[in-house]
Amino acid sequence: MTKQSALLRTEGSSLLLEVVDGALVVAHWGAPLAGDITDIALARRVSIANSSWDQPQNPGIMRESARGFLGRPALSGHRSGRAWSTKFEVTDFHHVDNQCTVTLRDFHAELEIIATFTLDSFGVLTQGARIKNIGDSDYFLNEYIHWLPLPQEATQSLDFTGRWSNERNPQRRDIATGTWVRESREGRSGHNFSIADIALENRTTFNSGSAWATSIAWSGNSHYLLERGFDGGQSIGAGELLLPGEVVLGPGETYFSPAMVSVYSSEGLDGVSAAYHSHIRARTMHPRSPRPLTLNMWEALYFNHDEVAIRELVDVAADIGIERVVLDDGWFHSRRNDRAGLGDWVIDPAVWPQGLQPVINYVKTKGIEFGLWFEGEMVNPDSDLYRAHPEWILHEGDRVPPLWRHQLVLDLAHEDAYNHVLEQTSAILANHDISYIKWDHNRVLVDAGHVGRAGVHTQTAAIYRLFAELKRRHPGLEIESCASGGGRIDLGVIDFVDRFWTSDNNDALERQRIQRWTAQVIPPEMLGTHIGPTHGHQTGRTLELSMRAATALFGHAGIEWNITEATPEERAHLKTWAIYYKNNRAHLHSGRMVRVDYPDENGYLHGVTAHDKSRAIFAYVQLTPTVGIHPAELKFPGLDAKATYLVKAVYPAGKPRFMLISPPAWMEGVKISGSALTHSGIAAPILAPANAIIIEITKI
Ligand code: DGJ
Repeated sequence: MTKQSALLRTEGSSLLLEVVDGALVVAHWGAPLAGDITDIALARRVSIANSSWDQPQNPGIMRESARGFLGRPALSGHRSGRAWSTKFEVTDFHHVDNQCTVTLRDFHAELEIIATFTLDSFGVLTQGARIKNIGDSDYFLNEYIHWLPLPQEATQSLDFTGRWSNERNPQRRDIATGTWVRESREGRSGHNFSIADIALENRTTFNSGSAWATSIAWSGNSHYLLERGFDGGQSIGAGELLLPGEVVLGPGETYFSPAMVSVYSSEGLDGVSAAYHSHIRARTMHPRSPRPLTLNMWEALYFNHDEVAIRELVDVAADIGIERVVLDDGWFHSRRNDRAGLGDWVIDPAVWPQGLQPVINYVKTKGIEFGLWFEGEMVNPDSDLYRAHPEWILHEGDRVPPLWRHQLVLDLAHEDAYNHVLEQTSAILANHDISYIKWDHNRVLVDAGHVGRAGVHTQTAAIYRLFAELKRRHPGLEIESCASGGGRIDLGVIDFVDRFWTSDNNDALERQRIQRWTAQVIPPEMLGTHIGPTHGHQTGRTLELSMRAATALFGHAGIEWNITEATPEERAHLKTWAIYYKNNRAHLHSGRMVRVDYPDENGYLHGVTAHDKSRAIFAYVQLTPTVGIHPAELKFPGLDAKATYLVKAVYPAGKPRFMLISPPAWMEGVKISGSALTHSGIAAPILAPANAIIIEITKI
């Protein structure tokens, strides 16, 4: 019998699948393999150790104890205590180009799994699994985890943690024997959700070394696992975290696991980002129109909706060059603060006696798009909806979950609740010229039962369905995914939305880190980045406009500030910045993101380089004061070594605060080769802390 194997391969990575003794084995995931690899399994066959198996075992992707595996299996479940252990055999193996579909069956446990592997041209591997009950009793699925093997040189792991207003703090640690689990049990992906779990070599940096990254494409509960066994083998995995009894497969029923989306890169963490960004950009639903410069009025108005104030804001916005204005929380029935109104998606006549149409018309006559805020999954106990249908919330027994921001969560898998939200929000969109909605999700799901069963899985499926239906009914509608800032940013919801609200923290200094790590997976054009007020509302920090503007430039830019209070000078700077953003967004939203391995921890050097290396825009950010007088030279990787570039500093929103008598001469413009820029660098100016400059590098 011919050996069943499939080599999925791109320029930068490969995945080798083999069927060994009926098991599906990932024989390699990493750098591209070439040449004769027929005997790779033989070459890698391990010794027979003392006090060990009589034959080497090949547990494969299912990691079953029946195949001699002693770590965490891929599948866990049972039929009321039976079928607790499985031994799947490959029954069909279908390989075309960079896609492989493998059917595995266990006739004793009466289960079928169809596992899919797709490696795209950017090196992004998407793994899916369909688990079907082919028996005639219920199968209780506890979990299904996608796993990939890691070589021993992966000695460290990197994942992310955070909270409201402080998302995506990196945590890097050594991998040791045992299982490292990062669970997300918020019912939304969450502020503490790790947007990726990445295994690294000790030496891996932004620009060099190997990285093996995974990301789970799911907005409900999930878990990442990194396991190193006492046999020395190690692996990385992810899957949906199922609550007890959440998925029970009746005869003939199928569970579709969320995909695990993975990247191997030999070009460090930036190589990982480049692959994810290209993969995301290649999707048919990726937003392709220029990302409109946005004014979100939340921090200007909060709940004080007042048409006169809004018109004044819109006048200034039009003068600055804003292209989309968003009316945030507070426009709907009895919503005068955060204690009432959620669930009643009708315009409040007390605040808007003529409805929203006059203000929308006003915005449109200025040539600006209008956007509106919703939080459709939520309900305040003080709402007409809750008074009429308290049974529509996610709950267990006769308990009401504890309140969070004075609100509860509607059970969208309840068809009547779903239809209520869909029809009310859809009616607002049908009756007004609204091209964009910001969809918030300001609390976690706990004790989240759906008709007596755990309901996070069905809730997650329902919100995807609702977003898809809104988009189907309202062609061209764009949706921003927000959850108290960056609490629902993941590769599951991404296919239904066009923008993420990166964080409620608009403090540019803190945003530098939040954006830097959110962009590890998400391309900048999908990350909302706003110029906040002079005195940040979250941290109270006072920052120069030039710093706030330089930070907001590297994303889907906007403003979240009462711009009627801006001084004439600030307004002039906002205008030049708006022009700069519009002139350069095509570049910023398509190029390769570069985070330089800058040796001085007091500064960041990051930017975007065109794929053809013709130009780059960088920011040098002085986070904290320099210790030595002169910060480290600024060196720019990824340029054309032999080409000559014009390098100069530009000031889209005024000059930063310098701490020097005269700045480095190159800032006025210098011509120099790509090689010199990469290896020798240019002098960093001495900036006051919390300041940034923008550097343009253009091939001549
Ligand atoms: C949380 C969001 O992140 C904010 O931007 C704003 O929309 C508020 N909710 C409104 O309640």
